[in-house]
Amino acid sequence: MPQSQPKILVEEADGIARATALLKQDALVAIPTETVYGLAGNARSDTACARIFEAKGRPRFNPLIVHLASLDQAREIAEFPPAAGDLAQAFWPGPLTLVLPLKPGHGLSPLVTAGLTTVAIRLPAHPVARAVLAGFGGPVAAPSANPSGAISPTMAAHVADGLGQRVAAILDAGPCDVGLESTILAPSETGTRLLREGGLPREAIEALTGPLHSDTTPGRVEAPGQMTRHYAPSVPLAMNSALTDKTALRIGFTDTDGGDLSLSRSGDMVEAAATLFDILHQAETMAHAKGNPEIHIAPVPETGLGRAINDRLRRAAAPG
Ligand code: TXA
Ligand code: MG
Repeated sequence: MPQSQPKILVEEADGIARATALLKQDALVAIPTETVYGLAGNARSDTACARIFEAKGRPRFNPLIVHLASLDQAREIAEFPPAAGDLAQAFWPGPLTLVLPLKPGHGLSPLVTAGLTTVAIRLPAHPVARAVLAGFGGPVAAPSANPSGAISPTMAAHVADGLGQRVAAILDAGPCDVGLESTILAPSETGTRLLREGGLPREAIEALTGPLHSDTTPGRVEAPGQMTRHYAPSVPLAMNSALTDKTALRIGFTDTDGGDLSLSRSGDMVEAAATLFDILHQAETMAHAKGNPEIHIAPVPETGLGRAINDRLRRAAAPG
């Protein structure tokens, strides 16, 4: 539990101006994006980036995503092979991150890239994130605003519970629409690799690029954040459950699965993605209140956003 609650800013002009001013002072601010809340800091400042790693308890070898307001800014920092330009054109701003070769003179703190020669870049679509980025005017590093390895935040209250006093402020714009982190791609001259399933469904990307090479095996070091165990509640979780064990805390996909909670009343995948992390937060709280039974979750179809949901659940269910 947090020792005391951080300052919650409202998403209007005052709150946005205050968040921007804090970023300029190298302070950390949790900001809303369409995917999840991000723990934002000045990506050119070693101090701000060190604060991000410290606040999350994040291993230093796990690089940060850089958030920008415009494609022009992105082109100043990274090389764009033709495939990257096409992807940016089609899907930015939006829930897509591109891993690209760094350009000389990029000016980022070395902590952002953790010593790699590439950088992960995203242009978020959320109007409040865009207003903060435009007001700040430079690159903003923003991993998901949760303690490293824990469930990602899709509401300001999740950030307050997880990071408490470790952020100067939280800019609250209500629940995130997409609810899953961005899809991460590494485009190159030789083809585009999928490093993380996420809020932009694979099918939408493949319609543009043709078949992607998957590189999302848990435990692979290529995307260091793709840890085998991640997104995990603090009680054991089992996926693809028939929900027959009545001693477990049960999460259905639809209402008719008969769980204590469900991802979507009507079995709608977009709604399931948007509510997944909040349902996991709720299930964790309920489990703690009931003596820590296991959390069991019904099967989620492996299609569209279901791929990213199952990716998160596989990592949440991995042994601790
Ligand atoms: O939707 C999102 O992407 C959210 C919001 C806040 O924008 N951010 C987010 O950040 O999910 P984070 O730090 O939780 O996940 C970033 C992932 C990590 O798995 C990290 O290892 C990977 O991106 N990454 C960063 N730079 C990379 C690079 N140069 N090469 C490969 N993977 C990289
Ligand atoms: Mg994360």
